[in-house]
Amino acid sequence: MGSDSQLSASALDMSAYWLPYTPNRYFKKTPKLMASAKGAYYFDTAGHQIFDGISGLWCSPIGHGDPRIGQALQKQFEKMDYCTAFQIASPDTFTLAKRIANMAPNGLGKVFFTNSGSEAVDTALKIAIGFHKVSGRGDKFRCIGRERAYHGVGIGGISVGGIVANRKMFASMMMNGVDHLPHTYNLSQMAFSKGQPTWGAHLADELEKLVALHDAGTIAAVILEPMQGSTGVLVPPEGYLQRIREICTKYGILLIFDEVITGFGRLGTTFAADRFGVVPDMITFAKAITNGVIPLGGVIVRDDIYETIMNHGGQEQWIEFFHGYTYSGHPMAIAAGHAVLDIFESDDLVNRSKSLEPILEQAIHSLKGQSKILDIRNIGLAAAIDLEPIASEPGKRGMQMLEKCLEKGALVRISGDTIAVCPPFISTEAQITTLIEIIGSSIQELA
Ligand SMILES: Cc1ncc(COP(=O)(O)O)c(C=O)c1O
Repeated sequence: MGSDSQLSASALDMSAYWLPYTPNRYFKKTPKLMASAKGAYYFDTAGHQIFDGISGLWCSPIGHGDPRIGQALQKQFEKMDYCTAFQIASPDTFTLAKRIANMAPNGLGKVFFTNSGSEAVDTALKIAIGFHKVSGRGDKFRCIGRERAYHGVGIGGISVGGIVANRKMFASMMMNGVDHLPHTYNLSQMAFSKGQPTWGAHLADELEKLVALHDAGTIAAVILEPMQGSTGVLVPPEGYLQRIREICTKYGILLIFDEVITGFGRLGTTFAADRFGVVPDMITFAKAITNGVIPLGGVIVRDDIYETIMNHGGQEQWIEFFHGYTYSGHPMAIAAGHAVLDIFESDDLVNRSKSLEPILEQAIHSLKGQSKILDIRNIGLAAAIDLEPIASEPGKRGMQMLEKCLEKGALVRISGDTIAVCPPFISTEAQITTLIEIIGSSIQELA
């Protein structure tokens, strides 16, 4: 039997599919089935139009079904559907790497391709450890993450990540020697912030305490999301990232920005590094580089880190870095990447994202004062609302919001009782206003 996306929920045998990051038992009782997508909208199996308020999953800033990406994929399929990246390579992979490097901050000129954000994170951690090792600093083995961080689901990513639910079931598998900085969110100091909070730069000095505790000689890298997306758009306080950079430089610790969400325009600049004026040693990316059409991720690396690993003394026919994936630099993903960057240029999408920031900010903060709202915050084309949880039923209001918003024609992201939105860059002002109206009226209807 072939697939039929129009199958209604009652006719569909849902038993075999184990959904990721989804309460499976609840979903199978209350399925939410999408049949198609075009532009900024999904259409569910009953034919209802649903505004994609979360750009796929932070990955589709161009919206869905842009024919320019489809045509590039069709062309690539006819030219070459697959080519291993081990020992042979397609020229387009080099040109995409160069394009990405040219968009990155100065000095970050090398690109390692992966298939996902999780793989990008684990790759960056391995590059950090490998770099120190070949530099004669094999004792630098610790990686520092941050509370409330999301760095994907690889062993490296969950180890440096700071979401307890992602970690507790797998505690026995964690990487050795990891420690965490405190997160920077503080409701009493920064409620209803617009953009960067002014309080909290001093929290970067906690890194000095970790250095004092472990000794800088044991610390390889600090990895941070410049803006913590998955735990609800936690915006770095003014001066915080600058201070982290200074401390890392002082002690020879590599700074990795995980820009899987923020890369390619989400904060109104190509990378968050540009918006905050802080240059890390590596940047991880994924998601928007292909508009979510085909998986592709990667790490942008400081030139001298690459050179050090290349030149650590092996013979030329020896592999310098024992790492890579069957689908690293997959030609179809590379073709999607080129098409997406072409569209970003021709449609000036980073500036489009920037110009929508005040619209989203104004709309979402207009909900301040409604009952059940604890906080609203925003930066770039991303925003979040914390709802007061129902005592002893955490997450219930979040789920009610997901369902009410879907009924009213909008998809939002829930994390517990936090609602996040990150609309596509192609959104109109009216679509963003409607999205927030739907959220506002859904909150009003909550019990
Ligand atoms: C900051 C960050 N890093 C890593 C990841 C993991 O990416 P993926 O789901 O592609 O593995 C995500 C996913 O949302 C993310 O937000």
